Amino acid sequence: MNLARVKSPLPGPKGRALLEKWHRYEADVVGYQAPVVWDHAKGCVVTDVDGNTYLDWTCGVLVTNVGHCHPHLVAAAQKATARLLNNYECANVERIAAAERLVKALPPHLDKCFFLSTGSETTEAAHRLMKRRTGKYEILGFHGGFHGRTSAGASMGGMPGPKKGYGPAIPGMIRAPYPNPYRDPAGWCDDGPDFPKYFAFLEEVVMANSTGSLAGCIVEPYEGASGFIFPPRGWLKKLEEWVHARGMLLTVDEVQASYGRTGKMWAIEHENVRADLLTIGKAIGCGVPVSAVAGTSDVFSCLSKGEMSSTLGGNPVASAAVSAVLDIYASEPLVENSAKMGAYMLARLKEMAPKCPYLGEVRGLGLVMGLEFVKDKKSKTPAPELIKPLINDCANHGLLIGSVGMFGNVIRVAPPLVITKDEADESLAIMEGALGRLKL
Ligand SMILES: Cc1ncc(COP(=O)(O)O)c(C=O)c1O
Repeated sequence: MNLARVKSPLPGPKGRALLEKWHRYEADVVGYQAPVVWDHAKGCVVTDVDGNTYLDWTCGVLVTNVGHCHPHLVAAAQKATARLLNNYECANVERIAAAERLVKALPPHLDKCFFLSTGSETTEAAHRLMKRRTGKYEILGFHGGFHGRTSAGASMGGMPGPKKGYGPAIPGMIRAPYPNPYRDPAGWCDDGPDFPKYFAFLEEVVMANSTGSLAGCIVEPYEGASGFIFPPRGWLKKLEEWVHARGMLLTVDEVQASYGRTGKMWAIEHENVRADLLTIGKAIGCGVPVSAVAGTSDVFSCLSKGEMSSTLGGNPVASAAVSAVLDIYASEPLVENSAKMGAYMLARLKEMAPKCPYLGEVRGLGLVMGLEFVKDKKSKTPAPELIKPLINDCANHGLLIGSVGMFGNVIRVAPPLVITKDEADESLAIMEGALGRLKL
C-alpha cells in the first residue's frame, strides 16, 4: 500500500486558509517550500492539515535523523519538561548526563563540549575560540561555505544570502575556493591525494590576503547550503595537515553532516580528520532545539569562568533530548542504514540522470544527496527555474523535497535515517515521474 496520498491539488482547503493567515501575521521571508501545512509526522511520513500524506526527503532541514517524533525522544522530552524547564548556568541532572554522553560519542581526541541552542551559535563560538586560543584574528573560510546567519557565521561563510545588503563582513576573513568536482575548470580535483594545484593556489590566496595573523580555518566536510558539494576524497585530510602545519586551529562545521548523515557518525571519520573544534546542531536534538561546540580541553582552556554562556544552552529539556537521541543511535542501526540506503538511493538516482536532460549531476554520501539541475549538460548553466515546479510536482504526488545551491538549482535528498527500502522505492518512483514531466 502506498504511504503517500495527496487527495487534491495543493494547497488543500485547510492548508490554503492557514497559509493565508500565516502570511498575514508572520513575515514571509523564508525560502520557497511546497504549499503544505504540516500537522503531524512519524518516521518518514508527514501528514498535513488536510489529511494528505507525504514521504519526506527534507527531515526539516537535515534535523530529524531518528525519524519524525521518535517515541523515545518524545517521551524523554515530555518527562524533562514536566520536571524542570530552565536553569541558567547551573548544573542539572540532564545537562550533566548529556555532556558525558556526547563527549563519549565524539571522536576520542575531542574531550569537551559546550551546549548552545542553534547551529549559528556554535560557529560563532568556534570563531571566538579559534581567535582567543591562538591570540590571532584571521579566519580562513571557503567560497560556498555556510555557517549560519549571525554576523561571524555569515562573514566566515561564502554564500551571498546571509551577507548581501548588510555592509562589510567582519574584518579578518579570508575565503578560498572549495574544490567542486562538477565545476572544476582549474583541475583542482584531479590530482589527489596531495592536490598540489589546489594547495599552491591556497598558498597564493593566503599570501595575497593575510596580514600574517591566521588563527584558524572553518570548513564544512561537504558544502550543504551551496549545493551539496562533496570535495574529492582526501582533500579534507590534506587541508587539516595544511592548517596544522601553520599552527592554525581547524573547525569542522558538522552542524548538518554529523549524526550518521554521511554514513558515519561524524563526517570527519571518513578520512580520520583531527578537527580541533567540531560544531554540532540539527540532529543532536532531532527537532528539540539544541546544539553544541565540541573541542579539545586545550582549546577550551583559553576561556575563564563566565566567558562562554547561554540563556537556554544546556537546559534540561534540550539536554534530555541529547541523551535520548544518543540512546536511539545506540539501539538502532541508523548509521549503517544511512550508508546502505544512501548507496541504494544514489545508484537509483544516478540511473535516472541520463533520462532527464536537465539533471546535470547526482552526488552524495550516505543519506545526503544533491540533484543539480542545469539548462543543458554541456554548458552546465544552472537552471534554478526548474526547482519550484519540481518541488510542487513532487509534493502533489506525495514527496516533500527542498532546494539549496549557490545558484538555487540543487534539490536536497535527505530523508530520515530510518527510511526503509519500500519508502525509498516509493519516493524514488515519485521523483522519477516528476523528472519525466520536467520542462524548461
Ligand atoms: C553547516 C551549517 N552550519 C551552520 C548552520 C546554522 O544552523 P542554524 O540554522 O541552526 O543556526 C547550518 C544550517 O543550515 C549549517 O548547515
